[in-house]
Amino acid sequence: MVATVLKDKGTYERYRKTVNEIVEKIKNHQGLIRVITHYDADGLASGAILIKMLYRLNKDFHLSIVEHLNEKTINRLQKESNNPLYIFCDMGSAYIDRIAERGMNAIILDHHPPKLRYTKVEEVHQLNPHLFNLNGAREISASGVCYLVAREYKFYDLSIFAIVGAIGDMQHEPFIGMNKFIVNEAREYRYLRSIVKDIVYNAYDLPIWQSIMYCTRPYIKELSDRESVINLLKELGIDPNKTYLEGEERDKLISALKRYVDESQILVDRYIINHKIEDAFYLSEILNACGKMGIGSVGIGAALEDEECIRIGRETYIKYKSEIIEQLRNIETQKLNNIEYFFGKKGTIGHMASLLVRDKPVIGIYEEEGYYKISARGNKLLVEKGLDLSKAMGVASQFGGSGGGHNIAAGARIPKIYLSAFLQKVDEIVGEQLKKEGIKNPIS
Ligand code: C5P
Ligand code: C5P
Repeated sequence: MVATVLKDKGTYERYRKTVNEIVEKIKNHQGLIRVITHYDADGLASGAILIKMLYRLNKDFHLSIVEHLNEKTINRLQKESNNPLYIFCDMGSAYIDRIAERGMNAIILDHHPPKLRYTKVEEVHQLNPHLFNLNGAREISASGVCYLVAREYKFYDLSIFAIVGAIGDMQHEPFIGMNKFIVNEAREYRYLRSIVKDIVYNAYDLPIWQSIMYCTRPYIKELSDRESVINLLKELGIDPNKTYLEGEERDKLISALKRYVDESQILVDRYIINHKIEDAFYLSEILNACGKMGIGSVGIGAALEDEECIRIGRETYIKYKSEIIEQLRNIETQKLNNIEYFFGKKGTIGHMASLLVRDKPVIGIYEEEGYYKISARGNKLLVEKGLDLSKAMGVASQFGGSGGGHNIAAGARIPKIYLSAFLQKVDEIVGEQLKKEGIKNPIS
């Protein structure tokens, strides 16, 4: 029961009231429902949950996938349609006042820190874990929040997308809190068929040499080209074209890779779901690749198990990873006192930044329409020491831009002319954050 996850009776009662009101609002709405979701794996998994749910409820709906919500997007949405019900997924909590101000009839299903700590503002309902003492960066993702609504209609099969979305947002090592509850529910109803300890490379359903070469979690630089991987597999007596390794071959590969990475990064929990893409991690990787390569709708099609979308999604995964590997080969980060940064390409900077983090946070930058778009990434150790990238990126507002996110992963957008001043300021703030001693912060 959800009640066991929420810490006290009062919190549970508030949760129940909010969810009931949202369920009623959807049920009673006649006319169009506009779903607006984020283009990453969690956003697309959220979109998949909502459109399956609305389809089953016989509602008219329209799904849009956006990179970021901002005033311009909200204005455009408001002008486009005739009094629809808006559902914002994986976004919206930072703009609840702006959405409410415009008199929009809306539901926000988000896991980012909310600007206003209310479950209802004017005609806008907000379901956000932070309002119920849950950590939105660790205990539940946006697709988890969407599933909390879907399960009210007993659509328990949609739990698999909450698992996929949480993995996309890296909340699975290990699953805790509400995520764990959802995993258990999926298991109970058999939509999550099994959880197996296995090598991550068996997740992909690709020839093993490709699985190794394109894998970036973990990323093994020495094995990021075809020749090196095939040579290694031949040395081990493993057929590079096998798609699944077991027994002795699997053990041999694990021992050989131990010289590059920790065994815990290769031997992982695989979540086997009731879906044509059987591995939840692989599905989240496909969704992420589609979203970041600008074909989020194909990702939605793949989530909905359309064969052609799955085929394109699998190809897109390879294209996306090839790009990342190619860029990583040539990248040189520039160093300030407390941060490192690099210039990269749209869609790949966030993932690359997270792979490049060592002892300093890394910031990826690309240019778009007179602005620089920025993705900043840290790691657990830096967060424990005090790093809060959300706060650091927040200073973008002092430079005519905007920024925010989580302490471990955040982003910003700033007018081009302010880049060096912005980086200097971020360097200073991060320096201050890491100077504090004796703290041990959680990811949030
Ligand atoms: O918009 P949202 O909050 O869902 O985006 C979070 C982003 O941060 C995702 O791209 C996710 O992969 C990234 N992340 C990360 N490291 C973590 C947690 C999240 O890079 N430990
Ligand atoms: O775009 P990226 O994947 O780097 O975003 C990381 C996190 O920062 C996400 O949670 C995103 O919602 C947030 N972000 C933000 N404002 C921006 C850019 C990103 O709040 N301008």
